[in-house]
Amino acid sequence: MLGEPVLQHMHVVPSWDFAPMSMMRDKLRALKSLAGPYTPFDPSTAPDDPTDLFAQWLQMAIDAGLREPHAMTLSTVDEKGFADARVLILKNVDEHGWHFAITKSSPKGKQIAANPNVALTFYWPTLGRQVCIRGVACDMGAAVRDADFLARPVGSRAGALLERQSDVLDDESELDNGLEQQRQRIAADPQLVSTNWAVYAVKPAEIEFWQGNEERRHVRLNYRRDGHTWLRERLWP
Ligand SMILES: Cc1cc2nc3c(=O)[nH]c(=O)nc-3n(C[C@H](O)[C@H](O)[C@H](O)COP(=O)(O)O)c2cc1C
Repeated sequence: MLGEPVLQHMHVVPSWDFAPMSMMRDKLRALKSLAGPYTPFDPSTAPDDPTDLFAQWLQMAIDAGLREPHAMTLSTVDEKGFADARVLILKNVDEHGWHFAITKSSPKGKQIAANPNVALTFYWPTLGRQVCIRGVACDMGAAVRDADFLARPVGSRAGALLERQSDVLDDESELDNGLEQQRQRIAADPQLVSTNWAVYAVKPAEIEFWQGNEERRHVRLNYRRDGHTWLRERLWP
């Protein structure tokens, strides 16, 4: 838990374990980053609507065979103002925004309920591309929630019905028993939906498309909402 004394939870590392730390730095420096080659991105050809550009880039990530091209980092802020972040799966993109599905009682669910200002970050390494979205998360309501929930595999539905995500797990058998109970509830009522489930759509205020370049002359295109249209601006790399 942030804000608590950290050391009491930490394993105390013997000092000789620090010796390899300089090797760690060397190891990291030896790794390549943004080595390319990449397909250049010409921002003058970008569509007016960033949703269309996102669709193009996502399709290129899918075509490039990237694993989980629909994985993104959701960043939130907790009630004490500390940042938090985790990876989620993108469920849809439409006129409402970028969708994800979560348990409302989870830390991220509580954080969004208190402060819906969030960020989404995609990274597609093979393409050297990043997309950063800043916006407001809106609950899509019961009908979208129910459809999403019922389309999930049974194990996923059972896990969500537990409503314990991110609680401390003291005993593995509690998890096994809990999942079994929820599976039995689903077997008895296949249309059972957790009212603790929610689909959110992030309506973007800003979207930045970042194309890495081997010579570090990265191309950045930022869309900013301006009423019903979008302003497009290049950003310095
Ligand atoms: C590739 C990947 C996809 C994930 N997809 C989801 C998801 O769609 N929904 C979800 O609640 N958690 C998902 N998770 C788990 C979250 O990263 C996180 O551990 C969990 O939601 C608890 O977050 P919280 O404690 O901040 O609420 C995914 C993790 C990974 C690595």
